[in-house]
Amino acid sequence: MDKTDYGRVAARQSELIGRTDLLKIESLSALTGSAIYVKCEHQNPGGSIKDRAALQLVEDAIARGDLKPGMTIVEGTAGNTGIGLAIVAKSLGFDLLVVMPNDQTPEKTRMIEMHGAQLKAVPPVPFKDPNHFYHTARRIAEENPNYWWANQFENTSNLKAHYLHTGPEIWQQTQGRVDILVSVSGTGGTIGGNSRYLKEQNPEIEVWLADPDGSGSYEFLRTGEFVSSGSSMTEGIGIMRLVENFKQAKIDYAINLPDQDLIAISRYVREQDGIVLGSSSALNVAAAFFAALHRAPGKTIVTFACDLGERSASKLYNANYLQERGLDPTPEPITDVMARYRKSGDRILQVTRS
Ligand SMILES: Cc1ncc(COP(=O)(O)O)c(C=O)c1O
Repeated sequence: MDKTDYGRVAARQSELIGRTDLLKIESLSALTGSAIYVKCEHQNPGGSIKDRAALQLVEDAIARGDLKPGMTIVEGTAGNTGIGLAIVAKSLGFDLLVVMPNDQTPEKTRMIEMHGAQLKAVPPVPFKDPNHFYHTARRIAEENPNYWWANQFENTSNLKAHYLHTGPEIWQQTQGRVDILVSVSGTGGTIGGNSRYLKEQNPEIEVWLADPDGSGSYEFLRTGEFVSSGSSMTEGIGIMRLVENFKQAKIDYAINLPDQDLIAISRYVREQDGIVLGSSSALNVAAAFFAALHRAPGKTIVTFACDLGERSASKLYNANYLQERGLDPTPEPITDVMARYRKSGDRILQVTRS
């Protein structure tokens, strides 16, 4: 660690996005013999990895002349992109309207409102319904020339943020030694930009997608069709359609893990390492643990702490909620998880289509 690096001095919050630390999860690294790291994306000013996409989307739109002074940014989001955009909008002098499904944790809704953004909550409906948050945001922008739609799913400024910044940070922080990158996917910006950058540096790097129940991405990579089973408490990840950012990801392996595993992993890492992972981050770390157990020891594995558990407090860390979902709030012992994962090699999908 460089003891002479005392951090940045910035004139606006948006300048503090990115350049996050890499933290070794000592407990799981010791159990597997591989170094498992999380990139501390909760260190971004908005508390999540989505700050990066928010900044790039807005900067590129300003540069193209699509977003001009006095305009309002509008976006449909599960929450974290809304928080990131709220910070970027205020830093750069824009207003923001966030369209969000009303079943997301109140932790995120509150943050958006506290940042002074306008919030339009809509019912959670299937994508084909015109009232879906995505279509609602698009319609608002189409009907009002003073609104600019960020469109994080199809706008590839999203993956560009990771190609230009997150990927190079990981490469430099691991001194080029990263062997495996593990990532969940919502829009696919994270896995898209990082996989492309890192594979350009070293084509041998393995990229693993971690997919929750209720998402169709794993099945899409297996069969070409978006089919899902079950559901998940995770938010902001998993999707049932092919979007531009995900399309550009270079994925070698995919694994689907159930919510019950997130309870075991999040509690173990909390007790052993003092990190309270958000639900998508718990899936990332579970999948990184899984990958480590199916590769020879000595690997360097990097995944993301996309946000912290404070954003999942009412779900992943709420025993009543877990029981209502039919989940057991008592975590499975890590040795049992480990034995189960070791025996589950047949669940790894080798991807041939990206
Ligand atoms: C907590 C969390 N994790 C992961 C993701 C997925 O990131 P990406 O959209 O880059 O695939 C999101 C997206 O909103 C998120 O909110």
